[in-house]
Amino acid sequence: MSESGNTKRIIVGITGASGVRYAVRLVECLCGAQLDVHLIVTPNGERLLRDEAGIDEVSANALLGGQSDHLFTHSYRDVGANPASGSYRTDGMVICPCSSNTLAGVSAGLAGNLLDRAAAVTLKEARRLIVVPREMPMSRMDLLNALRLSEAGAIICPASPGFYMQPGEIGDLVDFVVGRLLDLLSVPHGLNTRWADRLEPPRNMSASEPDR
Ligand SMILES: Cc1cc2nc3c(=O)[nH]c(=O)nc-3n(C[C@H](O)[C@H](O)[C@H](O)COP(=O)(O)O)c2cc1C
Repeated sequence: MSESGNTKRIIVGITGASGVRYAVRLVECLCGAQLDVHLIVTPNGERLLRDEAGIDEVSANALLGGQSDHLFTHSYRDVGANPASGSYRTDGMVICPCSSNTLAGVSAGLAGNLLDRAAAVTLKEARRLIVVPREMPMSRMDLLNALRLSEAGAIICPASPGFYMQPGEIGDLVDFVVGRLLDLLSVPHGLNTRWADRLEPPRNMSASEPDR
């Protein structure tokens, strides 16, 4: 598949943290918005894709339900692939979800696999790097690693959905996080993430229900 001329390019990294549904939806939204997605999945990310999303292979068919001219997959071990080079222009990278392991590796400047290398390149080229850690509680090491990355220019965007849009199902929570990521990438979207200057009682809780 050839890459589309002036189309925006985003690198997406999926690691072995819980919450791969965020990543699947992100890839779907980016490709749907006609951006080129360069996808790198760690071996543990592949395991989580299988366990949490029932996705057995990293392909457009499995992730998007069909072929796409916008999805480019790369082997995690191929440190010679395009995203490994700063001369290959991209519009940023999102690591979603980001394990504590990858958070530590990227914050230390490691580059022994394509995901870490692409993140290091994104930082050195002063491009937007968005990291979506998913761990709780976070250890002091996690926090220090996140701080180091933030100081190096990355945006730390924890997988921490809001509830003010009154989610009815898991997909609403997923969309909240993905919508905020799209905002950070300046990709227009219609996902329900906006604070509407109002707070109505939740649909599923009666006003007369006693406190517990
Ligand atoms: C089912 C499962 C769920 C996991 N969830 C998390 C998680 O939410 N956050 C995290 O930091 N690590 C989690 N881990 C541990 C990471 O997968 C592990 O540290 C691994 O080395 C990460 O490798 P990677 O960064 O190369 O993907 C989980 C592991 C498994 C098997």
